Amino acid sequence: EYVVFNGEIIERSQAKIDVEDRGYQFGDGVYEVIRVYNGKMFTANEHLERLVSSAEKIGMKLGWSIGELESLFATLIEKNGLGTGIVYMQVTRGASPRNHAFPPAGVAQTLVAYTRDMKRPVNNFANGVKTILAEDIRWLRCDIKSLNLLGNILAKQKAAEAGCYEAILHRGEKITEGSSSNIFIIKDGAVITHPANNYILNGITRQTLEKICAASGIPFIEKEFTVADLLGADEIAVGSTTSEITPVVEVDGKHVGDGAPGHVTKKLQSLFDQEIE
Ligand code: PDD
Repeated sequence: EYVVFNGEIIERSQAKIDVEDRGYQFGDGVYEVIRVYNGKMFTANEHLERLVSSAEKIGMKLGWSIGELESLFATLIEKNGLGTGIVYMQVTRGASPRNHAFPPAGVAQTLVAYTRDMKRPVNNFANGVKTILAEDIRWLRCDIKSLNLLGNILAKQKAAEAGCYEAILHRGEKITEGSSSNIFIIKDGAVITHPANNYILNGITRQTLEKICAASGIPFIEKEFTVADLLGADEIAVGSTTSEITPVVEVDGKHVGDGAPGHVTKKLQSLFDQEIE
C-alpha cells in the first residue's frame, strides 16, 4: 500500500512524521476527503480549491498546486488499485520546536494522503439513519476544514453511544450542521439548509445538491432554521462526501415524517446518482 508523503509516493511503512509536527501537536493544518468512484475522483477540483482556501484562512500558502495534487492523488489511486473509496489528504504547518506562534519561514509543510476502500452506504440510502441532537460547542470558524475536530468527535461519539449515525448540531435554537455532514430539511417541497457562513463547512455535497436543485426546479433555500423547524420538517437528509444524500428517519428517538425516507429525498438521491455516473 502506497501513500503520498510530501511530494512523493512511497510505501506506507516508510512514511515518518516528526513528533513535533504541528499537525500532531496543535492540529495546525487542514484536510480534505475526496470520494472515488470506479477509480475516479468525484468533484476533485472543488475539494482541492477548498483545501487551498482552508489553508489560506489559516495563513498557509500551499506548497503544491492544485494540478500537482490532483495528479499525485490520481497516481496514488492507480498504484493502490482503488475502485470505490476515498482519498484522505492533510497538510500541516510542518515540524518545528514547539511554539504556538507560526514556525520561521522555510519550515516545510507536511503533506500526507492515503486511499481507503469504502463502499457506497446503500443500506443507509434505502432505510435512512437515526440521529441525535447535540449542542454545537465548536469554535467560530467552522468554515475552515481544520484538523481540529474535538467538538465534532465528541458529538459523533455521543451519537455512536446512542446507536445513531449522526449528531445534528445546534447553537442554542439554531441548527448548524452535522458532526461530519451538512443538514437539510425539506418542508413543503423546498430544501432548506444553513447559510454558508462561519458556522458551517460549505460541503461540496451541499454545493452539488444546490446545483441539482437549481437544474430540476426544486427550491433550495439557504436560511437559518431552528430545532423546532427540524422536528416539524417533512423530511430530513444529511449530506457529505461519504454519506452522499442519506435520509434521516429519527431524531432523538422521534420519527421524521412517517419514519421512512421521504419522496423529495429519494428524488435528490436519484439526481445525485446521475451526477456520479
Ligand atoms: N466531512 N460539515 C462537516 C463538519 C464535515 O466534516 C463535512 C465532511 C461536511 C460535508 O462536506 P463535504 O460534502 O464536502 O464532504 C460538512 C468529511 C467527509 C470527513 O470529515 O470525513
